[in-house]
Amino acid sequence: MIQIKNITKSFPSVVALNDVSLEIQDRSFYGLLGPNGAGKTTMMNLLIGYLQPDKGELLIGGQKQTPENLNLRKNIGFVPQTIALYDDVSAQTNLEIFGSFFDIKTNILKERIDEQLNAVGLFERRKDLVKTYSGGMKRRLNIAASMLHNPEYLLCDEPTVGVDPQSRNAIFDLLQKLNSEGKTIIYTTHYMEEAERLCDKIAIIDSGKIIAEGTLGELVEKLPYDEAIIITKNKQTIQHRNSLNDFGVILDHDDHFELKPNNGIPLSKFFEKIEHLGIGYQSVELHKPTLEALFLHLTGRTLRD
Ligand SMILES: Nc1ncnc2c1ncn2[C@@H]1O[C@H](COP(=O)(O)OP(=O)(O)O)[C@@H](O)[C@H]1O
Ligand SMILES: [Mg+2]
Repeated sequence: MIQIKNITKSFPSVVALNDVSLEIQDRSFYGLLGPNGAGKTTMMNLLIGYLQPDKGELLIGGQKQTPENLNLRKNIGFVPQTIALYDDVSAQTNLEIFGSFFDIKTNILKERIDEQLNAVGLFERRKDLVKTYSGGMKRRLNIAASMLHNPEYLLCDEPTVGVDPQSRNAIFDLLQKLNSEGKTIIYTTHYMEEAERLCDKIAIIDSGKIIAEGTLGELVEKLPYDEAIIITKNKQTIQHRNSLNDFGVILDHDDHFELKPNNGIPLSKFFEKIEHLGIGYQSVELHKPTLEALFLHLTGRTLRD
């Protein structure tokens, strides 16, 4: 288990983390979701022990993490936000270099390198220079490097930024597989879709503070509404307003109706009805309760502001 207890970390011009406390259970896929500048990378640097907190303490498996505690670092893999690789040599050589930082026997390291190259789908390209790789391939190689010493904890700092969709899916599959094999993953992102898709627990961070924490279900329950259907008004919708009453409560706004559907009403029935009435799909939007909506609700801003 990782215990983050009342951590504060300041830089000369900003309090990057302000009294943050979290508990991360072993084997979980834990998300830290927040906009740029929220303090995610600072938290990762504290977890790996590159930075020391001003206040509070950080326990990993009961041991205190400090920049001096190299022993703990052996049990943590780190995929940094900025890709860290040697560009002018091959993937194979990169992994040999990274592997040499750890105390791994030569024959075991050789096996691990092959295993990791296969796991990230780069075995066939292992002899190519890294500078010929796409952003997604580099990121996958960085993940392979972070897993060479077979750590229990894997820190991934925005690993899909600058990555093509195909590599992004490969990264998701890879991390999900590692998690299912028992690794604890700590994953930062400013994409709510990623947190929603991957993480069993999510902390939302903004300006150095945790503003909400829980499972996806627990988080969206904090929103004062469930799903809503927004129907842009035109002559037809106004005329047919009352026929939509059966589906739920209708709120009348200037240019649209907002329908809060009754529990258990299949949306397909609703869409059938509006098609039947000839209202047309173009003016109808489904608003699902999302983490983005929660962030907006809690801060008045969007995650990408
Ligand atoms: N080494 C540093 N020196 C000064 N300020 C820093 C440093 N690292 C981060 N910061 C500041 O701390 C805040 C949090 O940054 P960071 O942890 O990188 O956020 P995130 O990863 O969520 O984008 C930002 O305001 C950033 O400018
Ligand atoms: Mg960052």
